[in-house]
Amino acid sequence: MPLKKFVDALPLPSVLRPVGHIGSAPYYEVKMKQVKQKLHRDLPPTTVWGYNGMYPGPTFEVRREHPIFVKWINKLPFEHLLPVDRTVHGAHPDQPSVRTVVHLHGARIRPENDGYPEAWFTRDFKNVGPKFLQKIYYYPNCQRPTTLWYHDHALGITRLNVYAGLAGFYLIRDEEEDRLNLPKGKFEVPLVIQDRSFYPNGELFYPTQPNHEPPPAPQPPPPIDPNLPNPSIVPEFFGNTLLVNGKVWPYLEVEPRKYRFRILNGSDARFYHIRLNSGQNFVQIGTEGGLFEKPVTVSDILLAPAERADIIVDFSDHANQNIILTNDAPTPFPGGGVPLTPDLMQIMEFRVKSRVSKPDKSTIPPILSCLEHLDPAQAVTVRRNTLIESTDEFGRPLLLLNNLRWDDMPLTETPYNGTVEIWELFNTTADTHPIHLHLVQFQILDRAPFTGDPNSPDVIIGAPQPPDPNEMGWKDTVRANPGEVTRIIARFGPFTGIYPWHCHILEHEDHDMMRPYEVLNNHNFDPCEPIPGVCPDDSFS
Ligand code: C2O
Ligand code: CU
Ligand code: CU
Repeated sequence: MPLKKFVDALPLPSVLRPVGHIGSAPYYEVKMKQVKQKLHRDLPPTTVWGYNGMYPGPTFEVRREHPIFVKWINKLPFEHLLPVDRTVHGAHPDQPSVRTVVHLHGARIRPENDGYPEAWFTRDFKNVGPKFLQKIYYYPNCQRPTTLWYHDHALGITRLNVYAGLAGFYLIRDEEEDRLNLPKGKFEVPLVIQDRSFYPNGELFYPTQPNHEPPPAPQPPPPIDPNLPNPSIVPEFFGNTLLVNGKVWPYLEVEPRKYRFRILNGSDARFYHIRLNSGQNFVQIGTEGGLFEKPVTVSDILLAPAERADIIVDFSDHANQNIILTNDAPTPFPGGGVPLTPDLMQIMEFRVKSRVSKPDKSTIPPILSCLEHLDPAQAVTVRRNTLIESTDEFGRPLLLLNNLRWDDMPLTETPYNGTVEIWELFNTTADTHPIHLHLVQFQILDRAPFTGDPNSPDVIIGAPQPPDPNEMGWKDTVRANPGEVTRIIARFGPFTGIYPWHCHILEHEDHDMMRPYEVLNNHNFDPCEPIPGVCPDDSFS
């Protein structure tokens, strides 16, 4: 029996408070803990992993150019909640399974604070990874105001750690955005959409075989033999239940007025193609890298894992109505194959009250922000990157970037600090891959069909298409569709060092669609000093 929809109110993650200061910068401590949490009225409490024992984690609210320090503390058990396959590349067969490292997704940050996949640590720092170990992280917040999110990034088990609950919001604000008079306070709501499957006893189910339904067993089966490869690992996880902010199919009571929603697809693999069943349009004001130049009116939005949409919904003509946020994205995307049940076509419900508590004075200004447009003529390098499907040493499907695994040497992508590059993403596989680069925000130039042949990916067979109007801002994650070359442009820097770039379908990232890239020294920049550009205070992005 599927769980009843819209019986639980949408939870709002609490805002994190600092525990002190280091110099003048606020200092936070966050403990990762295993807890039992009620995810639905009719579901027994579920064992989850939460930052400060909360799934999703508490929200960071920070100001642009006001740095903070965070100590991430691993108080998780030594044994994983979910079946770890230690033969998946990078899962470190010798190490205890519960390794964690926290990545701030979308942040412009030094490598040692980025949450590198090999900067992991186990409970109380008993065991640590080989690279960039850092007990206290420094977040400079020198970037445009936007919706970032933090999540686990431990090598080879990211899909399981995030699935267990390790993700939360990180919002950067500034005075310029405050002045825009967008809906704020209780009229500004972050929404993280995720899919999960449950055992009847309430515990999380994560498959060990590409069989996407939990067995009716009352208890989880014993974990798979850690030393033997699964005959077939799960190429993508698709849950049968949708959650927003950690509640199954919640509802939110809203007033008949404008609301700002910061929507994050925090799922392992599922795409969402969302709209409102009232048929109403809404306004998208930004994406991963902050506000657009101008608002874009849309009827629907496609969100791949890790993509964000900052939207304004006006409920003022819908008093006393119940409006459902719907989804019809095929899984896998775009080919389908895993059935999209009617349950998966509803995400949450908005219950519009009869009247407003006070008049809605918020506005959607016609100009939101100044956006520098990177010019292809500035690019010093065009890198051809290929997305490829292969097989691992056990004959299981393996997804790769440039036909290389995570720790194949040498590093192949090595932009110089401060330079602009175009990266081409030739997708020779059957699925859309949301490709994410750490450190930088980029812009999408275009997408063009090519032969799809990995051996001759340079044969373009159609005219390049510009990005969708709601992809015209700064992005940190881009959908690379099958049979297309997607071209993005970025200015690399301002920090040098090694960062990952990867597919954000977490099963793909873990097995092995992730590569390190290195920003090489050319010039060194003061990361918070604006460089001359179109937007006076818009250094580097
Ligand atoms: Cu959201 Cu490398 O990750
Ligand atoms: Cu990231
Ligand atoms: Cu992928």
